[in-house]
Amino acid sequence: MAYFIGIDIGTSGTKTALFDENGGVITARTVTYPMAQPQNGWAEQAPEDWWQAVRTSLAEVAEKVEWVDGIGLSGQMHGLVMLDGDGAVIRPAILWCDQRTGRECAEITEAVGRERLIAITANPALTGFTAAKILWVQKHEPENYSRCRHILLPKDYIRYKLTGEFATDVSDAGGMQLLDIRNRCWSDEVLEKLAIDKALLPTVYESPEITGVVRGLGKLDGVPVAAGAGDNAAAAVGTGAVMEGKAFTTIGSSGVVYAHTDRPVIDTEGRVHTFCCAVPGKWHVMGVTQAAGLSLKWFREQFAPGDSYAELDEQAEKVPVGAERLLFLPYLMGERTPHLDPNARGVFFGFSALHQKRHMVRAVMEGVSYSLRDCLEVLRQMEIPLSDMTVVGGGGKSALWRQMLADIFGMEVRTVAGEEGPALGAAILAGVAVGAYPSVEAACAKAVRKKPVQKPDPSNTAAYETFYHIYQTLYPALKESFKILQG
Ligand code: XUL
Repeated sequence: MAYFIGIDIGTSGTKTALFDENGGVITARTVTYPMAQPQNGWAEQAPEDWWQAVRTSLAEVAEKVEWVDGIGLSGQMHGLVMLDGDGAVIRPAILWCDQRTGRECAEITEAVGRERLIAITANPALTGFTAAKILWVQKHEPENYSRCRHILLPKDYIRYKLTGEFATDVSDAGGMQLLDIRNRCWSDEVLEKLAIDKALLPTVYESPEITGVVRGLGKLDGVPVAAGAGDNAAAAVGTGAVMEGKAFTTIGSSGVVYAHTDRPVIDTEGRVHTFCCAVPGKWHVMGVTQAAGLSLKWFREQFAPGDSYAELDEQAEKVPVGAERLLFLPYLMGERTPHLDPNARGVFFGFSALHQKRHMVRAVMEGVSYSLRDCLEVLRQMEIPLSDMTVVGGGGKSALWRQMLADIFGMEVRTVAGEEGPALGAAILAGVAVGAYPSVEAACAKAVRKKPVQKPDPSNTAAYETFYHIYQTLYPALKESFKILQG
């Protein structure tokens, strides 16, 4: 029997899980850490916290078996980690949900040209992506920038700590906005126009390739480390969304609707992202809700600190579809799909004196689901095949939330048997890298198990449709006010 470890550097914590070659979980350990918000719209973490979490969890997990055949990495995308010539962290990592770079995005658009940028990187300049963060440090912290010798993404910092190698994979690299998405390599044109030295960037690999071996961790020394994937591309592997027609929706801190594509299909308006996926030579398209699980987490921490998520589900279940005419816009961290607006903010709309906490809980869950429906609608407009939808992430564990998605999407959904998502995907990629499976697709067929489908309820679908249309009118009505509020 072969054993693989998947490590997922999430926003709320790191999950390290050990699997056998059939995808069975031997053990898993999560270590959490804080996210700092030094200013409105900013989001930072200490890379050293991630490494501490990995060291602790890896040591515990590796104890369970005598040997490990490979390690795969996955993690939150887009985060900027800067190291000096000695490999020391220069400043806290600026995360995917940080919105400070509005000006830098305008500069990127000016320097490269909007159409050219979308043609090469498949996206317009976005505040969450790494390129704008690099420009922000260049401008606001020139002293830090001049000391920078290596720019890495979160999971690739962990790779450096494990192996000493500076490497990344195509799926995560795409989220830096410096990659030529069609040709799967750094874009000299974009780098030149943004005055970013290519020597600062890591080597790019396909996801199921070996990038180095573990050094300095005793028993694990010599274990190969696969390139792995950004958390969404890794979740695709962990849910088996590795061929056309297959899609998944995740409700983690962010929310994503993701579909595999055999070709690089690009939305000319840039409302969704096209990135390379973890299957060599293939792509994916995804829409992103900035604050999905993060919205419910925020609500629970502020207004229901004593309630577990299961208790919140029970409360929401007592409220009818539409939360008695209460709607929620989940734009707590600005919004990406479809609005691409860092100024957007959260809204409860339609309060009346009859509303109680449980209505607000349901409205939050429904608002996040409407936002995910917005993502799905863009994919439908792009005519991307979508026949098989899996729901995962912390929110995907809730049968109520999954049913809401089935009803609001108007399609069957199901979830996977395990809860390891991106960590399983990362472990599978390690298995392919060391030759334990012939391909990513074959590995998924062997190691990913699904639960029975949940069907949409036609009367709920009809009722939600009315509320979704009201939801869709709210952002356009508030757009200017969001801008004034931010200004
Ligand atoms: C994707 C994105 C998030 C992060 C956080 O573009 O920003 O899904 O990967 O997990």
